[in-house]
Amino acid sequence: MSRRILVLGATGTIGQATVRALVAHGHEVVCVVRPRAGVRAALGPQQMARLLPGAQLRFGDVTDAVSLERDGFAGERFDVLLSCLASRTGAPQDAWAIDHQAHVQALDVAQRHGVTQMVLLSAICVQKPLLAFQQAKLAFEKALIDSGLNYSIVRPTAFFKSLSGQVERVRQGKPFLLFGDGCLTACKPISDDDLGDYLARCVGDPTRQRRVLPIGGPGPAITPREQGEKLFALLGRPPRFKQVPVGLMDAIIGVLGAGGRLVPALAAKAELARIGRYYATESMLVWDAAAGRYDEQATPSWGRQTLWDHYAALVRGDATTSDAERGDHAVF
Ligand SMILES: NC(=O)c1ccc[n+]([C@@H]2O[C@H](COP(=O)([O-])OP(=O)(O)OC[C@H]3O[C@@H](n4cnc5c(N)ncnc54)[C@H](OP(=O)(O)O)[C@@H]3O)[C@@H](O)[C@H]2O)c1
Repeated sequence: MSRRILVLGATGTIGQATVRALVAHGHEVVCVVRPRAGVRAALGPQQMARLLPGAQLRFGDVTDAVSLERDGFAGERFDVLLSCLASRTGAPQDAWAIDHQAHVQALDVAQRHGVTQMVLLSAICVQKPLLAFQQAKLAFEKALIDSGLNYSIVRPTAFFKSLSGQVERVRQGKPFLLFGDGCLTACKPISDDDLGDYLARCVGDPTRQRRVLPIGGPGPAITPREQGEKLFALLGRPPRFKQVPVGLMDAIIGVLGAGGRLVPALAAKAELARIGRYYATESMLVWDAAAGRYDEQATPSWGRQTLWDHYAALVRGDATTSDAERGDHAVF
């Protein structure tokens, strides 16, 4: 059944894929976007319209409840609020402003415009919240659950773009960088389109409502070492790795953290380093708190596209992932 859906964060990686899926499923989609959007504000209205065909674009400021109500909802009724909105930096202030506060306001406005379901793109890492952006996301998850609205909180594992940062350096003949032995962590990567499809299918599906939904891609969990081995195999070269001790990250965090007490810019860099360390040492799989370990079997799989398909497309030159797309907090 077709629904009227207001989408936040439509210009992001997963937002674009989700809008494609919603439109393909026959929904009426309205996206509230900034007049200049995308990585480093590279997208103007025409480019956005090309990226989000079949959706209506409305320009406004999602951090301002008045603008969201006036320019976004515009006095109309909607069935569903779907958000892929997220801080682009992961820095504490931005995360609390976007991942928490903007969502709290949007939820309030949405409830006054007939919305009965919210689909939220969250992240699997909030199950072990050690970072400011995870606390901000978790605080909004709680507000959404407490709101009484039907909710689908989707917590995906790793995205392809976050695991593609070393393709270029390996292609240039450099070694693949690993933290420790490269087997400290594992994840079940999910493609943009498979995740967009999963989020779109939460709309109107009672089995995905009032639920927190961890989700990974198809196939077994893979380690960073396996990612490197696959890349070298695709390039037809023998694997070459360089190990980076996790202690080095700790030292960097220590120095930046100390400097950050005097220079705010260093404090922000320290937080980005903490984010890097988190992903270097924590798996993106369901955490079994009782057993004190990550559980591959308990991490559901969805979709058909594999990271290996994506690596092959990158190596062939049929796909691209820029450093900017991966975000300020990307490590490798
Ligand atoms: N990377 C991973 O491997 C991974 C894994 C699991 C979960 N996640 C989660 O997935 C989410 C990120 O998804 P993504 O990669 O699709 O994000 P993204 O590409 O960075 O997109 C973020 C979206 O939020 C919007 N946004 C950010 N700040 C805004 C502001 N001040 N005002 C208006 N809009 C703003 C952006 O709009 P503009 O285009 O206007 O900037 C964009 O549409 C995060 O919640 C992250 O924690 C990531």
